[in-house]
Amino acid sequence: MAKELIRLSHVSMAFDGEVVLDDMNIYFNDKEFLTLLGPSGCGKTTTLRIVGGFLTPTSGDVFFDGVRINDVPPSKRQVNTVFQRYALFPHLNVYENVAFGLRLQRPKISEKETAARVGEMLETVSLRGFEHRTVTSLSGGQQQRVAIARALVMRPKVLLLDEPLGALDMRLRKDMQQELKRIQQQMEITFIYVTHDQEEALAMSDTVVVMNAGKIQQIGSPEDIYNEPKNAFVADFIGESNIVDGIMRADEVVEIFGRKFRCVDKGFAPDEEVDVVIRPEDVDIVPPEKGLLIGTVTSVTFKGMHYDIIVDFYGFKWLIETTDFCPVGERIGIDIVPEGFHIMKKSIYSGMFGDYSSYSEEYDEISDAEYVEEAANDGEVPE
Ligand SMILES: Nc1ncnc2c1ncn2[C@@H]1O[C@H](COP(=O)(O)OP(=O)(O)OP(=O)(O)O)[C@@H](O)[C@H]1O
Ligand SMILES: [Mg+2]
Repeated sequence: MAKELIRLSHVSMAFDGEVVLDDMNIYFNDKEFLTLLGPSGCGKTTTLRIVGGFLTPTSGDVFFDGVRINDVPPSKRQVNTVFQRYALFPHLNVYENVAFGLRLQRPKISEKETAARVGEMLETVSLRGFEHRTVTSLSGGQQQRVAIARALVMRPKVLLLDEPLGALDMRLRKDMQQELKRIQQQMEITFIYVTHDQEEALAMSDTVVVMNAGKIQQIGSPEDIYNEPKNAFVADFIGESNIVDGIMRADEVVEIFGRKFRCVDKGFAPDEEVDVVIRPEDVDIVPPEKGLLIGTVTSVTFKGMHYDIIVDFYGFKWLIETTDFCPVGERIGIDIVPEGFHIMKKSIYSGMFGDYSSYSEEYDEISDAEYVEEAANDGEVPE
């Protein structure tokens, strides 16, 4: 059974009267990998600083193992932080950077124990043999590992990580994601991880907390968040989503564009207006005469594994992922299985997301520009 370790209860934070966290209620379990995910400025770092003890909330309480810790300083919390800028000591070698916190401990830790603990940590982050290297001679990924070892050597119960992979290139980022997950499982401690990258959040976490404008939008497993988004903000932020207005005509029957479709959702009021999410990969392309809806392809982008096509249905543009090539201008029909519809209650975010009109215009502009450039390179003059 998961055991609760940290709880934020009705936590709000304001700076100069401006509310940046609004009544956060959340708990973090022991040994859990939990990610705070949301756009820039939504309050992720502020939340982390409150857990770490660097900020005191304007109102509300922070509990650790059931004990209120609002007034406990960072050094007395069993929590350690890894920052995006690793903040290593440039004049110390790898070994001394990792040993730094241990040397400050009172009563003093023996040199023998220090060596054992530093060695064990360097092993964990795959940096054995790097003890005597200066940190300035290390790559970004290696420096990040030193920062993680330095935090973990103190044996915190909770590690806070604020966009720790932000400075790394894509390939290294992916490797370090796996690496961090492995370290967290091996050390059996709680990781509270901050990112604005939804793919990273889905790949690494046991639990994802989606935030926007200082408010929690949804808490759940990566699968829950992706498959059952609570509102249009979450649906749009996590992956690609077509979001259209619908009406629940009965249990398991939703109407969009004046047509009734079978879905798997129920429990809505009769004729309740809803937001309907259809993921681009859940749409099947069929001949127009067999289609439940018929639309016109307005743009095609090759993505390697598939094509992204934009299709105009009655003036509303959808993004569809397909392995079949459909040229611009083609009339296509679509079919969607009942599980392909996800029904959400109307929210303050209704109507704000999920229409790909602007996406396709942007894309058209880019491809036009490319065409002009290519033509110019070929010595042709575009019309
Ligand atoms: N010390 C401060 N004084 C005033 N405003 C602050 C302070 N710290 C944070 N804020 C404001 O609080 C809001 C949330 O900031 P926070 O750093 O938590 O966002 P974030 O989700 O971590 O964003 P990012 O992804 O850009 O790091 C922002 O509007 C920010 O300007
Ligand atoms: Mg931040």
